[in-house]
Amino acid sequence: MAAVAKLRKRAAQLREAVDHHNHRYHVLDDPEISDAEYDALFRELQALEAEHPALRTADSPTQRVGAAPATGFAQVRHELPMLSLANAFSDEELAEFDKRVRERLQTEDAVAYSAEPKLDGVAVSLRYEKGVLVQAATRGDGTTGENITENVRTIRSVPLRLQGGAPALLEVRGEVYMTRKGFAAINVKARESGDKVFANPRNAAAGSLRQLDSRITAKRPLAMYCYARGVTSSDVSFDTHAQVLSAFREWGLPVSPEIELVTGVAGCNGYYESIGKLRAELPYDIDGVVFKVNSLRAQAELGTVSRAPRWAIARKFPAEEAVTRLLDVGFQVGRTGAVTPVARLSPVTVGGVTVSNATLHNMDEVERKDVRIGDTVVVRRAGDVIPEVVRPLKEKRPKGARKPKMPKVCPVCGSAVVRESEQAAHRCTGGLFCGAQRKQAIWHFASRRAMDIDGLGGKLIEQLVDAGLIEHVDDIYALQLEQLQDLERMGEKSARNLLAALEKSKQTTLGRFVYALGIREVGETTAQTLADHFGDLDGLMQADEETLLDVADVGPVVAEHVQQFFAEPRNREVIAALQRAGVRWPAGTPRTTDRPLKGHTYVLTGTLEGLTRDQAKARLQALGARVSGSVSGKTTGVVAGSNPGSKLDKAEALGVMIMDESELEALLQAHEAS
Ligand code: IVH
Repeated sequence: MAAVAKLRKRAAQLREAVDHHNHRYHVLDDPEISDAEYDALFRELQALEAEHPALRTADSPTQRVGAAPATGFAQVRHELPMLSLANAFSDEELAEFDKRVRERLQTEDAVAYSAEPKLDGVAVSLRYEKGVLVQAATRGDGTTGENITENVRTIRSVPLRLQGGAPALLEVRGEVYMTRKGFAAINVKARESGDKVFANPRNAAAGSLRQLDSRITAKRPLAMYCYARGVTSSDVSFDTHAQVLSAFREWGLPVSPEIELVTGVAGCNGYYESIGKLRAELPYDIDGVVFKVNSLRAQAELGTVSRAPRWAIARKFPAEEAVTRLLDVGFQVGRTGAVTPVARLSPVTVGGVTVSNATLHNMDEVERKDVRIGDTVVVRRAGDVIPEVVRPLKEKRPKGARKPKMPKVCPVCGSAVVRESEQAAHRCTGGLFCGAQRKQAIWHFASRRAMDIDGLGGKLIEQLVDAGLIEHVDDIYALQLEQLQDLERMGEKSARNLLAALEKSKQTTLGRFVYALGIREVGETTAQTLADHFGDLDGLMQADEETLLDVADVGPVVAEHVQQFFAEPRNREVIAALQRAGVRWPAGTPRTTDRPLKGHTYVLTGTLEGLTRDQAKARLQALGARVSGSVSGKTTGVVAGSNPGSKLDKAEALGVMIMDESELEALLQAHEAS
């Protein structure tokens, strides 16, 4: 063999060996040889290439050291756009995402998701042709990014050449990041040498990739994890995202070891929680987790909207903080009458958004945190969630800092503000009268289970209130055809329909009417119980707390709410106006006797055949029984359906009566008939 050929062969061997050990070390975290042995191989290759420059190849590991400064970055057009992700900031939003996915896929089955940490770094696209890294680009605007090939070459965990079986063309997307340790180390150095100190690992990673001199990038402790594909030649094909990731691993690409397959919302939530616990221990920053529909066919079916795929979502971790001054505390009245202290802040950017108001939740919180007007405070914003004041920096407190005070009357309607026993919130007692609560109150009043006014929904109520046509619930019965038909999206026909629905709603029942009033804690069942007990409205309105406490299932909280509601003169005015407008109900007879199952407690376990648990519960309660979730010596009976739980064992152990469904039905019917 000619001397040159021998050298070329040796160079190739060395490159392969160095690449191999690089991968073991930087990607698999599992080196096979010592650092010294690795260095020896590396230096031999370097020397060989220095002596014979013709032997040097673009994908040689020696080429990771960086090249002389570039004058700027060329633009790169992504053949497939680099997408971003929609965010979910709560369990509810995640559940909605999953629901949309299943609706679009027309499946009731739980969906398999790839669950992945959401690395907080810089998105990069790598292009491999015939297995060789030929280009690396930033995301840019998703369509066009910057060519940062020279810089990315210096990242040890990025293979310059893929291992066996790689396709002819492959674009790999992933996140370039810096470990927290690496970040701390370069900041120490930067401080020593008077260079720029980075704010966080993500900025450090971005700044390092933006270096025009890749020799500087080479010194930065960058790494990468791959999580998606761009264009891929058709010599490989996959059914699932998980298969793609395992192919990545086989080709030598770095993939996060934290990625898991999960099933359904429950699986997603479990993953989110466990990664959340792991977060502080991970060597790098993450700002959430990403869930991707695993089936590629399903992904294709779901498609993409406005630059984000419908098949993926980022479940973000809460919290980003900033420091600012608390200028004042205002008081806001919510739709349920809760009067909430609101911090008026010197405007500050938190997580990319300017914040000038933040919630202080309630006066207990203000007290507990000891927040005072004039304080310098820490403000936190969690995604789309309302910003909140976390705590004051007491060491910065000025002398004249004042404690915020809850006003005695509602800032919107002037009604008394009260604080209910054992509740954190202060509330306006204005109820139906208070402007802040009006729209919500009217909406509740008109709703199906209350006055059941067909066609009077949220949008229309909004329009009517904003146009000044209604102020309080009784005003809806004074609406005229001319007023209605002039409204946007209305017309004569719908106006006439609405008037007819209003007329029809006037004939109601006392239970519905009491429910419609929107008294706090008085739901449908309690309203009906009150109606049954008193038989007429006057009796209920005049009842004192003691009388109310005599009503089955009415405890001190409900009694207090009911009493307070009817004590407010303005609520009485609204009720009188409704009656003048013609709202009426059949007279009832107040119950004088106790209900038959009063004092009895039942526990339901297992699945019932003929009725739902809620139905069984409602019927038992209607007869005066209590339905409890746990068995004790005081339990009257345990109703066991199929597949009963441990409650049955407990009942047996305690010698509590056990009934089957037919026995329950017999019991209910016997009492309901009488
Ligand atoms: S997938 C097909 N997976 O989050 C959708 N992105 O907010 C493309 N990111 O631009 C992204 N970890 O920079 C995906 N496991 C992960 C990720 C991840 C971090 C970043 C990425 C993206 C941004 C979207």
